Amino acid sequence: MGNTRICLLGVGAYLPERIMTNEEWTEHVDTSDEWITARTGIKRRRIAADGEGTVDMAVAAALCALDDAGLAPDEIDEIIVTTDTPEVYIPDTAAFVQYRLGAREIPAYALGSSGCAGFLQALDIARARCHFGVGRVLVIGVEVLSRLISWNDRNTSVLFGDAAAAFIIGQGKLGAEIIGVTAGTDGSRVDILMMEVGGSRRPFTLEEAQQGEHQHVIMNGRELFKEAVRRMSEAACRVIEQAGVTLQDIALVVPHQANLRIIQAVAKKLDMPLNKFFINVQEYGNTGSASVPLALWEARKNGLIAGGDLVLLTSFGAGFHWAAALLRF
Ligand code: UT7
Repeated sequence: MGNTRICLLGVGAYLPERIMTNEEWTEHVDTSDEWITARTGIKRRRIAADGEGTVDMAVAAALCALDDAGLAPDEIDEIIVTTDTPEVYIPDTAAFVQYRLGAREIPAYALGSSGCAGFLQALDIARARCHFGVGRVLVIGVEVLSRLISWNDRNTSVLFGDAAAAFIIGQGKLGAEIIGVTAGTDGSRVDILMMEVGGSRRPFTLEEAQQGEHQHVIMNGRELFKEAVRRMSEAACRVIEQAGVTLQDIALVVPHQANLRIIQAVAKKLDMPLNKFFINVQEYGNTGSASVPLALWEARKNGLIAGGDLVLLTSFGAGFHWAAALLRF
């Protein structure tokens, strides 16, 4: 890919105002604050307001990232949106975002349904596009998971939250350098996290819709847990090895925020102290493809990243997909 320096020009995020506590979930399903806290570390999550949609949130995060980069919407050359909760099925959310943002008639496309790994997969593509000569790429991860998932299923409902976050990347001398990105897929594990009803395999029937089947996520939590730890750790090791650095050189790890216990297990597997991991799952739950950029945005906002720091991002998602990235601030 040559010596072109691709860097992070801006980071932004958007969080819906409404905070929903674990206690509030007990009004909907048979659960408790104790169970959710002990098994996941989650205490609260944000829930999009009625009438607030995927595009509203994506555009708000994009404007925040543009502001951070000191850029106007017409200075963006390409847009990639990653989401499992699109505004509508057709067309993709990227088309809505391009127009609402006031961007030029640039390429805009979406990556969908790769779960929480979507954002770093998109970053991988965006980085390649910049090496190819595209000036600046806006990458947005956005989820309104509170509307996708059944509020009657305690196995999944309590885990998720709504959020959007965005990166702007491009060639340049300023901003954190994106040193490397790695991604992979093991499609033999599609069974461990799936929404089966609603696609071409099992189109909606009235009966199923009435029973809420279209919101039913099939999830093998224990298998997911094991795969998550294994693949996030492996991806982290691969990206640092490719960059010729070691885990000891890493100042901060920003992992996908699915479950505190998964993050603790990754820290153990990598033999790294937990205080090198940024954790905000307690505040927002699992926000899918928004999770990693939201965590990086908050870590930087909280002054946890200094110039020269090596920061490692790592994630996993339904598929089974995984991806990791290494940045030098
Ligand atoms: O981005 C991908 C999204 N998904 C994930 O990242 C999930 C990864 N997996 C996990 O985070 C964990 O496996 C869970 C948090 C989902 C579950 O924790 P666990 O320690 O693996 O739980 P378990 O399987 O040992 O226990 C589940 C038990 C079941 O009861 P029985 O069958 O043992 O009597 C569930 O019915 O916990 C019960 N349960 C709940 N109880 C109270 C499941 N959800 C709840 C709940 N409140 N919300």
